[in-house]
Amino acid sequence: MLALLCASLFLVACASDASLSTEEQIRDMHAKVTEIWQEVTGRRAADRGQDAALHAICQVRPSASLDAEKPQVTGFVLFRQPVPGAQLEAFFNLEGFPPEANGTKHAIHVHQFGDLSQGCESTGPHYNPLAVQHPQHPGDFGNFAVRDGGIWKYRSGLVASLSGPHSIVGRAVVVHEGEDDLGRGGNAASLENGNAGRRLACCVVGLCGPAPWARQAQERRKRRRENECKTA
Ligand SMILES: *[C@@H]1O[C@H](CO)[C@@H](O)[C@H](O)[C@H]1NC(C)=O
Repeated sequence: MLALLCASLFLVACASDASLSTEEQIRDMHAKVTEIWQEVTGRRAADRGQDAALHAICQVRPSASLDAEKPQVTGFVLFRQPVPGAQLEAFFNLEGFPPEANGTKHAIHVHQFGDLSQGCESTGPHYNPLAVQHPQHPGDFGNFAVRDGGIWKYRSGLVASLSGPHSIVGRAVVVHEGEDDLGRGGNAASLENGNAGRRLACCVVGLCGPAPWARQAQERRKRRRENECKTA
């Protein structure tokens, strides 16, 4: 399989049109490599008669380099990718925000390195494999509103991946102190990180089995039923 990938990469590289910009070439190569990856992994899963869904978990801890008076945010982020290459679904489940933070918005992003040796500071910049501007990075998850000291949110349609050449597995998820300006801040930092401020908490994404996701999906169904009862 590795030989197949290498051979295909070589072909892709040779076939690239010289008139394309470097960025276009990278995008083009990424699309082709992803396609090959999907085909190979999809076929392998089908051969074994298995569900091809991938799951990952990220156990959020306060940054080791954070001042003691800052919010100590803990919790987890769960990811599910129905098949390799498909868009991601995610659950964000965080707590530890103070009462005065009720209603405030916090940016959450994937950063380049799964290195927490200097707290969240050593996770590097946003993971940006295609050299594009914020907020087009694969891990630009946007803003999350705090409610009653926590964040509990299901999101789908995320472009990050748990497989293939640009997998976020082994990289970091960072919860920021401020709101993401989504590239509209009018300065250079806005197009790199959305001016989202200090890194409150973070974690490293690791693969996991389907059980944590199943538990959250059940919790979501329960909350929806409760909401329906309230509004009925
Ligand atoms: C937080 O804000 C929500 C509305 O956004 C409100 O329903 C809730 O009661 C508030 N909680 C606290 C602890 O103030």
